[in-house]
Amino acid sequence: MTPALTRTFLPAPPLPPGRPRLVLAGFMGTGKTEAGRRAAALLGLPFVDADEVAVRRAGRSVDEIFERKGEAAFRRLEEQVLADLAQLSGVVIATGGGAVLHTEAFAAVCDGAEVAVLTAAPEVLAERIGRSGGRPLVGTDDPGAIARLLQQRGALYAAAGGLLDTTTRPPDEVAAALVARYRRRTGEPAAGTPARIEVASGGGSYPVLVGAGAIELLAAELARVRPGIGRAVVVVDEQVESTVGPRVTEVLRAGGIETRARYPLPAGEAAKSLSCVADLWTWFRAEGLDRTGVVVAVGGGATLDVAGFAAATYARGVPLVNVATTLLACVDASLGGKVAIDHDDVKNLVGSFHDPTLVVADTSVLTSLPGRVFRAGLAECVKAAVLASRGMLELVAGPPCGDELPVRVDWIVEQSVRIKAAYVAADPEDRLLRQSLNLGHTFAHAIEAASDYAVPHGEAVAVGLVAAARLGVEVGSTTPDLPGSVQGTLERLGLPVRPPAGLSPERVRTAVAGDKKRRAGRPVLIVPAAGGAELVEGLTAEDVLGKLRTG
Ligand SMILES: NC(=O)c1ccc[n+]([C@@H]2O[C@H](COP(=O)([O-])OP(=O)(O)OC[C@H]3O[C@@H](n4cnc5c(N)ncnc54)[C@H](O)[C@@H]3O)[C@@H](O)[C@H]2O)c1
Repeated sequence: MTPALTRTFLPAPPLPPGRPRLVLAGFMGTGKTEAGRRAAALLGLPFVDADEVAVRRAGRSVDEIFERKGEAAFRRLEEQVLADLAQLSGVVIATGGGAVLHTEAFAAVCDGAEVAVLTAAPEVLAERIGRSGGRPLVGTDDPGAIARLLQQRGALYAAAGGLLDTTTRPPDEVAAALVARYRRRTGEPAAGTPARIEVASGGGSYPVLVGAGAIELLAAELARVRPGIGRAVVVVDEQVESTVGPRVTEVLRAGGIETRARYPLPAGEAAKSLSCVADLWTWFRAEGLDRTGVVVAVGGGATLDVAGFAAATYARGVPLVNVATTLLACVDASLGGKVAIDHDDVKNLVGSFHDPTLVVADTSVLTSLPGRVFRAGLAECVKAAVLASRGMLELVAGPPCGDELPVRVDWIVEQSVRIKAAYVAADPEDRLLRQSLNLGHTFAHAIEAASDYAVPHGEAVAVGLVAAARLGVEVGSTTPDLPGSVQGTLERLGLPVRPPAGLSPERVRTAVAGDKKRRAGRPVLIVPAAGGAELVEGLTAEDVLGKLRTG
């Protein structure tokens, strides 16, 4: 490894809120796990048991942790788990009985959440705990232990949230009560109501609507964020022209926004050319578009990039609404303000910053995506989790369940959007912190180039994430367990973790050496680090290549 490395820590910024959490607190034996699991199923939200997370991380049961390492070690682990779960939105969390002891981490997990404190009569608790063979602090041979602990923690529980007595209520009834409280809190009429995430940028902000059915809210939301909008011109990827296109037109018209024919663009990357932009300018003019109107771009990242660039440059900039139709566009290309076209065989050579007025990430349109295109987007979601949400990484990697994802696509998109939004807000012009989002991408670009673009971008990013984690361990930035956990997650999601056989090392080396982000002739790499990422300078192409070879 090259001796003189420079490392710059890039801390993960605080995430904007998404859907509130539903947090269950209370003494052991009050039925938090069972009721929480059922409430999560009714709400269509993921469920997390904080003790289970701690057990998975420690690789041993709570009893064993207490026995071998002592209560203090368990409490440290519990506190870290709570802090990580506080990063998640739209999730049901059953906390351990002692969670209330961690003043700061418990407050963080409860912040903005609906908090329910489950209770039960002491004799019922004793009976339930006894049936499960006791717990570390309440042995079956100490009848006074429950009363003592209740005495110690009673005030903390009472202050944590609304009480819900489970003494005579079966878990289904408790779950129904929890669901009612959560719905009252969020004002959401039903499960699946789109989530709204606000992206702060350049002194203002714009909303991203996430979830199935978000397109139906397009006109109303547009009227809210930009009242009195004139006409809308709809630019759509030809692949979704006959499916998503009519939905968008109908919703706009029903909302009183004038719009005529849609402009179909060639599918995917082929549209990112100056000639397409010129055709769009001509069409905008023919449609009578001016700055009181709006360009509505419907498609994947390529469509949003080219329509966005046309919107940024026409009449010195007209408002833009992005309706994302690929997973990658939902979590990445639709927000952040970067718009670009390819030129002279260089991707994104000509571009600008042009924030959208509104982003719609309607996950119901993703079902028509080819599996490979869908998974390419998942690689970017994993990248986001590695950078800013260990809790998300663990949930996404949850137990495999056939072809289904461990957690719902809506939820993954919501978390990923929050993470991208946080980086955009902290560094709108991509000066330093936002470069964290290049995690895995130097490797990815080299693999793509060396394979003559036979390896799709998302698959190359997946390989790059594992390589970046390995490199991070070698330079001392990354904890040794991370490469394995990233690899396991990607494999569960059906993504590759090593470069395809036969990739020419010489071509990879040339591509790394020529990476456009190099400084002083050397590649600049982002590697994962606790609490964010590190930017590492001074590596050689050989150092980078080594991480791919060991794949
Ligand atoms: N501006 C940014 O911040 C940013 C960020 C990341 C990527 N990008 C750009 O995004 C582009 C990649 O985006 P992408 O991965 O979305 O690819 P894409 O836009 O090329 O779409 C991939 C394929 O899916 C098709 N498609 C789109 N929606 C579909 C649907 N619902 N059902 C079936 N097929 C559908 C498209 O026609 C295309 O063939 C690249 O050009 C990249 O440079 C931009």
